[in-house]
Amino acid sequence: MKYALITGANRSIGFETARQLLQQGYYVYLGSRSLENGQQAVAQLHAEGLTQVEPVQLEVTDSASIRAARQAIGQKATGLDVLINNAGISGGFPQTATAADVAVFKEVYNTNVFAVVETTQAFLDLLRQASEPRIVTVTSSLGSIALNADPAWGYYHVKPAAYNSSKAALNMYTVALAYELRDTPFKVNAVDPGYTATDFNGHSGPGTVPDAAARVVKYAVVDANGPTGQLFSEETNPETGEIPW
Ligand SMILES: NC(=O)c1ccc[n+]([C@@H]2O[C@H](COP(=O)([O-])OP(=O)(O)OC[C@H]3O[C@@H](n4cnc5c(N)ncnc54)[C@H](OP(=O)(O)O)[C@@H]3O)[C@@H](O)[C@H]2O)c1
Repeated sequence: MKYALITGANRSIGFETARQLLQQGYYVYLGSRSLENGQQAVAQLHAEGLTQVEPVQLEVTDSASIRAARQAIGQKATGLDVLINNAGISGGFPQTATAADVAVFKEVYNTNVFAVVETTQAFLDLLRQASEPRIVTVTSSLGSIALNADPAWGYYHVKPAAYNSSKAALNMYTVALAYELRDTPFKVNAVDPGYTATDFNGHSGPGTVPDAAARVVKYAVVDANGPTGQLFSEETNPETGEIPW
């Protein structure tokens, strides 16, 4: 049995990621900052016959919550095979480089960057107990500095400054993490689920939640020959998923 923890898994892409990992036989710790919402999500999965799942209260910007989740999971499992850092926020729009309040930047970085650092570090010891540990950071093509600087790119004019820069910072953290774990069995990758119809964007995205989650799951279950320290966006590059940082 392989064990996975997904942050922000009570709804949208995180929830569907849980469903797809369950369908692949994983045991899933379904992270939710509201335990009640997590319990409801788990009940829905149970009703679908997917029973190897339990909710874990996890507010990723709260150190005490992260510590408690780590302790709770550590008491049940000897190792963790997969960590998916999915929880993320946009910070709301508009969000310009010239006028967005620095408080918005701090709020967005807190969830999209600092919380990922803290959550990852908290679970690293459990992940090290697994034979083939995997970490996926859920990023966005909007975090690619190279694409943001390319006037030919389809989303060139989409520049929420706090969100895009937070995902760029998350990408660099992913590279640094993969580098430090390069001589271990870890695979650490940043994955863009694609512009997807969820609450995140008022359901404006063209992509579907199942497709988005499948892109994330693909790198959560890569085998020993799989990539590490890479950035993938199948929406941008349907052939290989590779895009510039
Ligand atoms: N949708 C897209 O088009 C798109 C495109 C590229 C990348 N992404 C990325 O994909 C990820 C998931 O996006 P989504 O579309 O599924 O977003 P969503 O519909 O807004 O859902 C976000 C999830 O994250 C949780 N969350 C937010 N802040 C949290 C916190 N501090 N602690 C714990 N959980 C927290 C939410 O919990 P609550 O229910 O408690 O609020 C919710 O479960 C994000 O990282 C996003 O940046 C999305």
